[in-house]
Amino acid sequence: MRVGLEALSFYIPRYYIDLKTIAARRNEEAGKYYIGLGQEKMAIPAPDEDVVTMAANAAAQALQGKETSSISTLLFATESGVDQSKAAGIYVHSLLGLQPNCRVVELKQACYSATAGLQLALALVAQNPKQKVLILASDIARYGLNTAGEPTQGAGAVAMLISSQPDILTFDPASGTYVEDVMDFWRPNYLEEALVDGKYSVKIYLKALAEAWNNYQANGGFSFHEFTRFCYHLPFTRMADKAHRHLGKLVHEQDLSDEQVKAHLEEGLRYGRSVGNVYSASLYLGLISLLDNASDLAGQRLGLFSYGSGCVAEFFSGVVAENYQQHLDSEGHRQLLHDREELDYEAYSRFFLFHHPVDGSESLAGHFKTGKFRFSGVNNHQRIYEKTA
Ligand code: HMG
Repeated sequence: MRVGLEALSFYIPRYYIDLKTIAARRNEEAGKYYIGLGQEKMAIPAPDEDVVTMAANAAAQALQGKETSSISTLLFATESGVDQSKAAGIYVHSLLGLQPNCRVVELKQACYSATAGLQLALALVAQNPKQKVLILASDIARYGLNTAGEPTQGAGAVAMLISSQPDILTFDPASGTYVEDVMDFWRPNYLEEALVDGKYSVKIYLKALAEAWNNYQANGGFSFHEFTRFCYHLPFTRMADKAHRHLGKLVHEQDLSDEQVKAHLEEGLRYGRSVGNVYSASLYLGLISLLDNASDLAGQRLGLFSYGSGCVAEFFSGVVAENYQQHLDSEGHRQLLHDREELDYEAYSRFFLFHHPVDGSESLAGHFKTGKFRFSGVNNHQRIYEKTA
């Protein structure tokens, strides 16, 4: 039985900052970000947007025109959770009006958790092909103003419907995993911004890629030349370039040419370059970018690498379906990226520093541009969500 992606979409906040603006503020050359990190724009959430509204917006887009009564499970992957107990997915379940006999849970392991969700979903659907699983990956990457990580922030969500009707992509059974207890990036409960050992995190990412690939090979995975494209977790798009060259060298014992790297990666990097790191959603935003922007990929095998600091990594693969283009809203995705408002540095820092009080008093976020759902504020320590007109 084939199991895979029946529907796939994303949502990003309606505001962004150009990294040229950040560079100017820091007296640095924009080339450091545009070329050195491969990043041009960073999505910035307004005060009335959070991981719940972004995920609900992505899901509403992915499920458009679909019958939702067979969604038996909703898995919400995030490291930007809004509550220590209640799963963010329950708010989304309610906003979307999904059927009540649905299990909902939140998953966490840095940027890796959506891939854990995917593996759970594949097993659930294989066990009962009549059920579908909705995976939501939603995150806000925050390092802090004027930190080394600041140019690699971002925000957004991806929604994936996994079923036995894989109209977009069928996943292959083999995968390779790697885990190691490292402190490359973490966020203690009492901090709102991540702590990171940036250069070390890049080294560990590359090590985890090699280890996950070796495990994938040991588990009967496909060989390098059987893939036409590769998608990597994208903390910044230059990381994929580094990763692919690293993997190429491991496999071929010589450097891949610039042309080979470009042919394997290019279309998958476009959206990430304009959005930034979306943690758990990053790999899958890259997959959407590839499917939306490459010419016909039907029947082709894609290699996928998921990495979450701390760390857990997984290499896996899938084959693109015939006529997959008909099941993607590629034009809608491009429009979403295009129709955004640019922020200057002051407006960006105001959004960044906005906080609701934590004493239980009522506080409203104010009205900004959002999608179909917004986070209107808090009262009595409870979050209030609503549909927009
Ligand atoms: P940095 O110190 O700001 O930058 O840190 P740099 O000095 O290393 O420069 C970056 C690149 O720009 C270098 O290229 C420079 O040469 C180049 P490289 O040596 O890498 O080839 N450069 C220029 N290029 C063109 N024109 C110029 C110019 N100037 C310099 N004028 C760092 C960069 C990524 C470390 C920092 O941004 C950071 O700490 N980011 C956050 C951590 C991160 O993204 N780590 C990635 C791996 S870990 C991961 O992916 C997991 C994560 O997503 C979290 C999770 O799992 O939840 C982060």
